[in-house]
Amino acid sequence: MDAAFRKINGDHAAQQGSMYLEEQTTKSGVLSCIFALKEEVGALAKTLRLFEDKGINLTHIESRPSSTNKQEYEFFVSVDTTCSKALDEVIEGLGTQISGHVHELSRNKQKDTVPWFPNNIQDLDRFANQILSYGSELDSDHPGFIDPLYRARRKEFADLAYDYRHGEAIPKVEYTADEKKTWGTVFKELKTLYPTHACHEHNRVFPLLEKYCGYRQDNIPSLKTSHISAVLRPVAGLLSSRDFLAGLAFRVFHSTQYIRHGSKPMYTPEPDICHELLGHVPLFADPSFAQFSQEIGLASLGAPDEYIEKLATVYWFTVEFGLCRQGSEIKAYGAGLLSSFGELQYSLTNNPKLQPFDPEKTCLQKYPITEFQPVYYVAESFEDAKEKVRKYAATIPRPFSVRYNPYTHSIEVLDSTQQLTNLADTISSEIGILCNALRKMK
Ligand SMILES: [Fe+2]
Repeated sequence: MDAAFRKINGDHAAQQGSMYLEEQTTKSGVLSCIFALKEEVGALAKTLRLFEDKGINLTHIESRPSSTNKQEYEFFVSVDTTCSKALDEVIEGLGTQISGHVHELSRNKQKDTVPWFPNNIQDLDRFANQILSYGSELDSDHPGFIDPLYRARRKEFADLAYDYRHGEAIPKVEYTADEKKTWGTVFKELKTLYPTHACHEHNRVFPLLEKYCGYRQDNIPSLKTSHISAVLRPVAGLLSSRDFLAGLAFRVFHSTQYIRHGSKPMYTPEPDICHELLGHVPLFADPSFAQFSQEIGLASLGAPDEYIEKLATVYWFTVEFGLCRQGSEIKAYGAGLLSSFGELQYSLTNNPKLQPFDPEKTCLQKYPITEFQPVYYVAESFEDAKEKVRKYAATIPRPFSVRYNPYTHSIEVLDSTQQLTNLADTISSEIGILCNALRKMK
């Protein structure tokens, strides 16, 4: 579930496998770090002695059991920034003198203010349940607000997602007859519009989803379906923009499973299974679009808060409400349009204002979230949009570049000669394959 909210960067520990240590300089001039120690008698006392030996006065310390390793405790400590150099020496001592207790020895001052971001796809588990609101919490004007059965059902869906962890099979949901009826109404109406209003890519994939993935008027496809579960991950509630966009970097889309209230099948105040399956899924099966979405996610990793808001706006006007030029026509590719019978029609009339997609301008556009958009942005193609986002990402202030490694499902931070050498080797290998293929074609 996506959101146009910003999350204050909290106390995530930067994690790389079992190794982690995070430092951040807060606005008040306090330098903080998190380290992990094996749980054993005297481990913390030895560590504190290092601080004492360097004359560092700890202004704050707290502990918590490690969420990733039951045999470890994590410690969050703060010191005055005047102790920065001494802290360097303590961190070195943590590794050399208490070897085996602290796993991560590296320190990179350039990263002091970089917000935490997931390095491995398993790291998505660390924030998947850090939701801004639980999926069963409804506003008083929600169509299902006074329906106790609907609210109980929403809680069932939220609980299912809450227990999900990366690598597990997505829980199969048995939808009720009423829920299938709601889906059927939405499916039937939207399908009549797709041939004339949806982009070519959507219309190419949709029949395949009908043929292979159970897309029918009388059936709500399961997220568990292998073709779909490859890109979707259930989520219990509203994620922050930072966390939601980070998922895209790993080609993971956080998805709802519940369905809108049956009293208003053509309206939903929030994303639901109709929005995800009819709006998002078809486009994620298109390689160019999938790469474009991932590019937004990669741009968000470690980006400052103000850029997360800008990237969320770019996401809004593309993945959610994007239009694109196809020949002499304009078609819809945004999921918010492809899952809304009313707005899909409206978006291609002369009423809204159309602007060319340009991330630098698009990212500043204000937008309403509960009514039709007054402005839409038109992409020339997904390839063109991807290149524009990539160029825009280069302007985001962060002291490194990132690259997704599809073999390990991890993010490579390109900030060392070793990383660049590895990348050069990979490119060299790919060029070799290309040259070989070209020779054979001759
Ligand atoms: Fe969406």
